[in-house]
Amino acid sequence: MCGIVGIIGKEEAAPLIVEALRRLEYRGYDSAGVATLHDGLIDRRRAPGKLRNLGGILATDPLPGVIGIGHTRWATHGAPTESNAHPHASDRVAVVHNGIIENFRELRDELSAKGHAFVTETDTEVTVHLVTEYLRQGLDPVAAAQKAVKRFEGAFALVLMFRGDEDLLIGARKGSPLAIGYGDGEMFFGSDAFALAPFTNRVTYMEEGDLAVLRRSGATVYTVNDVAVRRPIVITQAGAALVDKGNHRHFMAKEIYEQPEVLGHTVHAYVNAITETIALPRTAIDWTAVSRLTMVACGTASLATQVAQYWFEQLARLPSGTDIASEFRYRDAVLMEKGLALFVSQSGETADTLAALRHARENGQGIASVVNVAESSIARDSDSVFPTHAGPEIGVASTKAFMCQLGVLASLAISAGVARGTITREREIELVRRLLEMPRLVGEALHQEAIVANIAQELAKARDVLFIGRGLAYPIAMEGALKLKEISYIHAEGYAAGELKHGPIALIDENVPVIVIAPYDHLFEKTISNMQEVMARGGKVVLISDRKGHDLSGDGVWMRIEIPECEPAFQPMLTAVPIQLLAYYTALAKGTDVDQPRNLAKSVTVE
Ligand code: AGP
Repeated sequence: MCGIVGIIGKEEAAPLIVEALRRLEYRGYDSAGVATLHDGLIDRRRAPGKLRNLGGILATDPLPGVIGIGHTRWATHGAPTESNAHPHASDRVAVVHNGIIENFRELRDELSAKGHAFVTETDTEVTVHLVTEYLRQGLDPVAAAQKAVKRFEGAFALVLMFRGDEDLLIGARKGSPLAIGYGDGEMFFGSDAFALAPFTNRVTYMEEGDLAVLRRSGATVYTVNDVAVRRPIVITQAGAALVDKGNHRHFMAKEIYEQPEVLGHTVHAYVNAITETIALPRTAIDWTAVSRLTMVACGTASLATQVAQYWFEQLARLPSGTDIASEFRYRDAVLMEKGLALFVSQSGETADTLAALRHARENGQGIASVVNVAESSIARDSDSVFPTHAGPEIGVASTKAFMCQLGVLASLAISAGVARGTITREREIELVRRLLEMPRLVGEALHQEAIVANIAQELAKARDVLFIGRGLAYPIAMEGALKLKEISYIHAEGYAAGELKHGPIALIDENVPVIVIAPYDHLFEKTISNMQEVMARGGKVVLISDRKGHDLSGDGVWMRIEIPECEPAFQPMLTAVPIQLLAYYTALAKGTDVDQPRNLAKSVTVE
């Protein structure tokens, strides 16, 4: 994740921007930079590494000007060097950006053909040259920004500053957060309210597709259709809490909605979008030397490993198995020589998982981990660590961490397949391109929120709920059941759809809703047959599928939730979204404590 700030102030902007960036360092600190306008011109100071490096440069080479923008970077495209550090600028416009411009390659080619010279390896730079191109065509800054933003695909937030206008900043958000701060004769942009807390507690959280024009006198917000709209100004408590809920009622809702942004950062940590290859961080693994992969975790993290087992075996043909940690550490598993044990944990402190890791090491296994807290105990005890970059996850029910675990595990499985020769170069390019689309598609899956909220009103009346799926949908069925039971306290079970007839179908009657997870793929027809067996017994079915699946599913479905179509291998990243929303809204209807459900804890550091 990156942090972005903009200030139209009354005093020197650079020191205030650095103060705001310090409050955003939790979002990334590979490099930092500030740009201001003085004497009508754009001027910049940038530095690789932590914010204090930028502070040192500004101390010896101050940057004047009362209007400016700033950025603390978590590198996605391009190494964390000074030249790749934001703000990026032409002679006409400077920009800071958080997120991904998915179609940057085609835009880069188009603009290069028009004579624009690119000097960085970043996707961000296309925003500078595209806006500059429109300014050169005679559009005013607002029109140029509105036209350019419409051409960007992906999940992003950005702030633009224009040469010669010391009373104008333009910000846009699409999938990544951006807030407007209201001062006394001053105006602000920030990635979150916490960054703006030193200046104001009056903020507006921009909504999906919004573009905001800031002048000292105030803000004008336009929708994606360029219609001016009024967004509420709220008083935040952000100054107190390190991480705030933004404009969400609960941390879980905020974290569900952060998924497009954080999955984007995760994917970009593991792929090189320029070479279209999987690019693992430093601690890579020699997959050709691994005899068998054993994945171990608890709860939701364990279900991520169950998805990954399909990936490692189908994509890399690597013999793989999964265990829940509390069983693995005591069942005296037979572990192969040259075996690799992979531990997945959001907190990196789960006692059962940590103990299982030590058991695996004592039995000669290579140790790798996928964690969300890079300096956690599990990370420290691992030979190879693969961070998920989901950012702090506060809600006890894991959502964005699960999504990012899937992003990392998919990348690892593809990497293993490339190394083991089971994935061709063409297939790697195809998988990387499809993986880069997933953050945007996760954002589209969130558009079903209203439909899911309506279904949840009915689900809240149930005493028992079944989730069923086949193949990659089976672990998601179990995750859906776990999410529902842990925050709404309704009993729920996830089953392999093919298992229903071996017992569970005895439970079916009109009082037991069945959530069928069946995107259109090679198993679709079989799952639909299972669904019809349920409906034949009076069961009420909620079908989660894509457009094609719904069109082919026949009549009798009680309610439908649609997800976008995607690369079949990556469907779990999309089917996870409606089951998270279903649990959230059912819990809301039940009035339970969504962020801190009874009897649970965010990190289970005891056996
Ligand atoms: C997730 O919704 C649950 N709260 C829980 O199952 C969690 O996934 C499990 O305790 C593992 O936690 P970890 O990822 O921090 O190891």
